[in-house]
Amino acid sequence: MHIDTSQYGMIRQFQRSDIDRILEIAGNSLTEYYTSSLIFDLFDSWQDGFTVYAIEGEIVAFMICARNTPNEARILMFAVDEAHRRQGIGEKLMLDFLAFCRQNGFISVKLEVKTDNEVAIAFYKRFGFVITSRLRAYYSDASDAFTMWKII
Ligand SMILES: CC(C)(COP(=O)(O)OP(=O)(O)OC[C@H]1O[C@@H](n2cnc3c(N)ncnc32)[C@H](O)[C@@H]1OP(=O)(O)O)[C@@H](O)C(=O)NCCC(=O)NCCS
Repeated sequence: MHIDTSQYGMIRQFQRSDIDRILEIAGNSLTEYYTSSLIFDLFDSWQDGFTVYAIEGEIVAFMICARNTPNEARILMFAVDEAHRRQGIGEKLMLDFLAFCRQNGFISVKLEVKTDNEVAIAFYKRFGFVITSRLRAYYSDASDAFTMWKII
């Protein structure tokens, strides 16, 4: 899986040596705080759920997913470096992951997103995700999450 070689960049699997850049993008783009040990634990449980997008060797985006149940995947962390947004990179990572899930017998994908993250909600809706519930005080700053879900 994970072979996309456009003229612009490429999707590849995460490697342990990518951790510092992933934490840097996460720190600039996501509001929750993530540690390298948490990320490595997730990686050890499901390496296929980890992809990065690199341009000339520099990681500019990543997606970290887990197996929620044997048939359901869950997107846990997903971010494109700010300077590279709105160029179709998030779409490439999403389509690659959905194709992988489809080929590997998954039935659905779920995720949580901050209720005020209009950009991400618009992005996920574009790929057919629908809001299924609201989780009160889900995040560490006590803000709410929407659960979004898609049958693949
Ligand atoms: C959400 C995110 C990953 C999207 O990545 P991206 O590479 O910028 O998205 P793409 O360029 O592939 O956009 C695909 C489509 O999503 C929608 N979209 C993306 N950014 C949008 C924006 N700012 N406003 C409205 N719609 C948007 C559009 O439909 C877009 O298609 P179009 O450009 O043809 O109109 C990116 O904005 C990001 O990293 N945000 C900060 C981190 C974050 O919120 N992560 C999600 C946590 S749950």
